[in-house]
Amino acid sequence: MRKILVTSALPYANGSIHLGHLVEYIQTDIWVRFQKMQGNLVYYICADDTHGTPIMLMAEQENITPEILVKNIHIEHAKDFEDFHVNFDNFYSTNSSENKELSENIYRALVKNNKIFEKEIEQFYDTDKKMFLPDRFIKGECPKCRAKDQYGDSCESCGATYNPTDLNNPYSVLTGLSPVKKKTKHYFFKLSECSNFLSKWTKLDTLQKEARNKLDEWFKAGLSDWDISRDAPYFGFEIPDAPGKFFYVWLDAPIGYMASFKNFADNNKLSFDDFWKNNSDTELVHFIGKDILYFHALFWPATLEYSGYRKPTKIYAHGFLTVNGEKMSKSRGTFITARSYLDNIKNPNLLRYYYASKLNDSMEDIDLNLQDFSAKVNSDLVGKFINIPSRTSGFISKYFENKLVPIENIEDKKARDLILGIINIKDLVLEHYESRFFSKLIKLLMTQVESLNEFISQKEPWVLAKKEGQHKVNSDLHQICSTCLHAFRLVSIFITPVIPELTSKIALFFNESPYKSFSDIETEANEINKYEHLMQRLDLKDIEAMIVTKK
Ligand code: 2FM
Ligand code: ZN
Repeated sequence: MRKILVTSALPYANGSIHLGHLVEYIQTDIWVRFQKMQGNLVYYICADDTHGTPIMLMAEQENITPEILVKNIHIEHAKDFEDFHVNFDNFYSTNSSENKELSENIYRALVKNNKIFEKEIEQFYDTDKKMFLPDRFIKGECPKCRAKDQYGDSCESCGATYNPTDLNNPYSVLTGLSPVKKKTKHYFFKLSECSNFLSKWTKLDTLQKEARNKLDEWFKAGLSDWDISRDAPYFGFEIPDAPGKFFYVWLDAPIGYMASFKNFADNNKLSFDDFWKNNSDTELVHFIGKDILYFHALFWPATLEYSGYRKPTKIYAHGFLTVNGEKMSKSRGTFITARSYLDNIKNPNLLRYYYASKLNDSMEDIDLNLQDFSAKVNSDLVGKFINIPSRTSGFISKYFENKLVPIENIEDKKARDLILGIINIKDLVLEHYESRFFSKLIKLLMTQVESLNEFISQKEPWVLAKKEGQHKVNSDLHQICSTCLHAFRLVSIFITPVIPELTSKIALFFNESPYKSFSDIETEANEINKYEHLMQRLDLKDIEAMIVTKK
């Protein structure tokens, strides 16, 4: 049995969960459910990422404390995840005592290992707000193309990247005033000294090939030391022995993975060290978006290495979500929050299925084309998958007292082969799950579903039913419908990590408890309950209604 601690990136506590976030949580959740169904011991850990300037300012605007703000957001996020059936073992917060203690201890260990140094730097300061301004809170004219109102780090018009101090006519986003340059002491992590360790570490089989290539580029460009401090006022943890200086949010965010696990371990009497120190027989797997690879594949392992902790076993990065081929944006009418999806479309299985049908092991972006989404879920799930019980179960109820013919008594070779064919793809199914090639998995399962639909069309059980009364006809009808339902059950077991809620209803239909293991394919159902329609077709008008447009 493998022992795996799995994480998804911690969502920022300054906004709602949207369909872009859900790519990752659904991807991870499917993988975790698959591992659990394989009998592995898996803990799926997450938390809200709560610190930093944007959260501090947002709370100020709403006239509440940041602590209250992050508590409110936590409730909203937890509900969104639950409603999409993203089943964390622990969903915690980086603003916790566990995280404070771990962050301080890790920092102290880094100091002891001579990996931290102090340096005076010059930054923009808003004299009215009395605070240093992060890059995103300074705007001005692009030094390259002169476009107005560009952020302090990059130009949306020409794509140039630069330092905020390079902007022409800079102004503070908070007050509109022109900021002054001011000196301040910051704390840095000596990432430049970690190249040897990191280049060795990245050669292990931890990263996807594309990610390794990206890292090679970064190594070639040279690693810069990392500024891990921010000045007060800042919502975060104060750095030990450095009054008025706080850990930059990206220092304590990944430590939040540990802290959430610590909280979970303490509540469940598990060993924290088994997963974070003595790592010979445990795995640590991070699912992330490709935009935060630098943090997870460079800063994070280096931080762990020089503070005496284990390093990740795998980092799985995925691409971004586009909607109708474009970046998700309110002004383009392609911004969709988790809640607006749930309020309008209601059925989370549809999105889980659609994402699975698009996901693979690469960092390529995936597109949610809304037309294609509705066509696909209506055709695959309603038109083909659910179509199997809806075309066959009525006869079993009406003529055969809900009883199925046992698989061993299925006489027709073609019918038996259909069932065996599905049992025989088990290894391939497991392989596609393990390698995160969910698109291949869905294709494979849909091929089986299509064969079953063809079988039904060929055998025309409804024609046989009309010839009711003759013994042979009756038996054929029973055999055909039982075959389809046994086969449908097998596909349902295989697809459970993708659409667990739907298959738990299917299990109920077969008078069983929800499928918890792939070995459930070794057993069989011998009866059904009356078929209740399992799913509605998706209506285009619900899709249109869920798009959040800019007010
Ligand atoms: O990019 C983000 O949304 C960050 N909040 C992810 C943090 S992941 C981890 F390192 F904490
Ligand atoms: Zn420009």
